[in-house]
Amino acid sequence: MRDKLVVGNWKMNGGLAANAKLLARLASEWTHRERRKLVVCVPAPYLGQAQAALSSGAVMWGVQDVSEHASGAYTGEVAAGMAAEFGCRYAIVGHSERRRLHGETDRVVGAKAAAALAGGLVPVACVGETLDERERGATEEVVARQVDAVIEALGAAMCRCVVAYEPVWAIGTGRTASPEQAQAVHALLRSRLAAAGAGDVSVLYGGSVKGSNAAALFAMPDIDGALVGGASLDADEFLTIARA
Ligand code: PGA
Repeated sequence: MRDKLVVGNWKMNGGLAANAKLLARLASEWTHRERRKLVVCVPAPYLGQAQAALSSGAVMWGVQDVSEHASGAYTGEVAAGMAAEFGCRYAIVGHSERRRLHGETDRVVGAKAAAALAGGLVPVACVGETLDERERGATEEVVARQVDAVIEALGAAMCRCVVAYEPVWAIGTGRTASPEQAQAVHALLRSRLAAAGAGDVSVLYGGSVKGSNAAALFAMPDIDGALVGGASLDADEFLTIARA
């Protein structure tokens, strides 16, 4: 059974006071009776705060990146095992901002997904084409290459991963892929995952998801939930998406 999942990505936003309010709202309003899983991926320094605020409830928490290494001389990096010690369950890997701003290659993303699993976290592996790639007609080739790198790195463990399709041109731009555009790519990802024995992996859509467009996206057969950036910082908007 594919998990229905909504994951918030706070990116580099937040502060102790604002986080406390947001986490308290989520903790009080999201219960074990909900049909979806709800996750917030917070900046690493706030993992302890997320753990304290959420550990008795239904909302789960995660990190936005992990090192491909388990420990060692990697200044500034956070290992999956360290995040797991704070009760963290998920790790975003290969977000387009990491690929673009930090030069993360498909190989690195695959290694990070493997490191997340080894450290006890579920990787949420992001794939997605740029506007230029879409306009050149290269969308399928790009996302296939990106997901294949993760499949190759994880092997049989791919079935324990989550995949997020985030067209780069839709991230933080207010421009969402239409449900049909997203579904077409999700179907392609699903078929590659199925061929690797991981057809039950949840595939999330991300890129300007809001309360007003979530239901139409979730109605598509291969969209299992969302990876939400900006709108995850607003409790009302995030809960509206989660319940769409
Ligand atoms: P957005 O970001 O919802 O603000 O477009 C999504 C993401 O980058 O994960």
